[in-house]
Amino acid sequence: MANENHNRAQFATRLGVIATTVGSAVGLGNIWRFPYEAGTHGGGAFLICYLGCILALGIPVLCAEFVIGRNTRSNIFGAFKQLASSGKWQWVGYIGITASLMILSFYSVVAGWTLEYFFQSVTGGLDYDSQDEFHRQFNSFSTSNWRPIMWTLVFLVFNFIIVNRGVKKGIERMSNIMMPALFLILLIFCVNSLIMPGAKEGLAFLFTPDFSKITPDVLIGALGQAFFSLSLGLGTMMTYGSYFSKDTHIVRSASVTAGLDTLVAILSGIIIFPAVFTFGVSPAQGPALVFEVLPSIFRQLPWGEVWSTLFFFLLFLASLTSTISMSEVSIAFFTEEKKMDRKKATRLNTAIAMIFGTLCAMSFGWLDGITFFGLFDIDLFTFFDFTSSNILLPLGGMLISIFAGWLLDKKLLRNELTNDGTIKVLSFRAIVFCLKIIAPVCIGLIFIFGLGIF
Ligand code: ALA
Repeated sequence: MANENHNRAQFATRLGVIATTVGSAVGLGNIWRFPYEAGTHGGGAFLICYLGCILALGIPVLCAEFVIGRNTRSNIFGAFKQLASSGKWQWVGYIGITASLMILSFYSVVAGWTLEYFFQSVTGGLDYDSQDEFHRQFNSFSTSNWRPIMWTLVFLVFNFIIVNRGVKKGIERMSNIMMPALFLILLIFCVNSLIMPGAKEGLAFLFTPDFSKITPDVLIGALGQAFFSLSLGLGTMMTYGSYFSKDTHIVRSASVTAGLDTLVAILSGIIIFPAVFTFGVSPAQGPALVFEVLPSIFRQLPWGEVWSTLFFFLLFLASLTSTISMSEVSIAFFTEEKKMDRKKATRLNTAIAMIFGTLCAMSFGWLDGITFFGLFDIDLFTFFDFTSSNILLPLGGMLISIFAGWLLDKKLLRNELTNDGTIKVLSFRAIVFCLKIIAPVCIGLIFIFGLGIF
């Protein structure tokens, strides 16, 4: 029953494939989330676990999503409908849309922060003399009752406009230009950070692992970060795989995507941690870290406002290329499973994200300290972030790897990975081994210990 949907759109070029999948992967996860997760989880210890998760779990699961997507030419629900004999596998799809809507909600808040910082850069509002003032500025903005909500909604309107235009044109064209530009500007900032007085300490923090700091908490953080950063476990990459052409090299695409995504995360670390030690900021200060440290970096540079404006603009675009890919998960569900027309589905996706995004944006202001009838002892923003990244995505990834490793026809898997035997894939056995054993066992163990199940 595979390959029913022959008329489905396809990415036009090889560069388009890479730019689009990297566009989905690279975003706030690398530039905002990676430094703060590494900062709160011991730097080098976190990095080692994160790299391990990308290699042993991320790349194989990414290959599995591409294989299933391209073979079925379908979204996550349709894919499991075609390939699985039991309807129970549709639950992977439900996990995916729940995770995608949760991420879209809190992610839009942070993307809204980038819009505020872009606006402040343009209007010269980031001109403070001390780190304390940048700290106070972020605090007063993020706890304000209306600005974070306004920017969250503005961001979601942008997301709506692009998603509403359809899948291929806008996304592919935008990614082709913006991703290299973002990469270039990160390289320039890296060089600047490497000559800061705190460079040695910052690099030692990031690259010298203290193995005694590897705790279950660090492992679950690294696992969640790997899945979040690669947009894995929720069906996004499966949907993008469904736009691959027959001759797309799946293993190479997965490796290049994971490699570039990891590189961007490490570059962000190289930018942030030398600055953290130069300016005397605590690396463990959480989600505010990047928004408090970056403006101080820009202030030191010649034409600081120009760099700052350009950077926050590119970060906003990188966030958009990630949210448009996440939106496709629920839109595909509404259109293909609930038979809604695409415009209505896009509106529904945006409405849900606007409601929960507003609540997340209020987490630090109006709703600060509110624990929802004592149900959660954390705010909604943190609850959405933790639950989606650290539980739902790895759970989705574990089920996808079990399905691909144990239930999917081996011949189908081999044919997809080798393009019907026309290319050699030396890592075929390793990928199958990771999907069958390593991914399910490791994710299972990290869940058991990291979530305190025992
Ligand atoms: N993979 C996306 C990011 O890291 C969600 O920003």
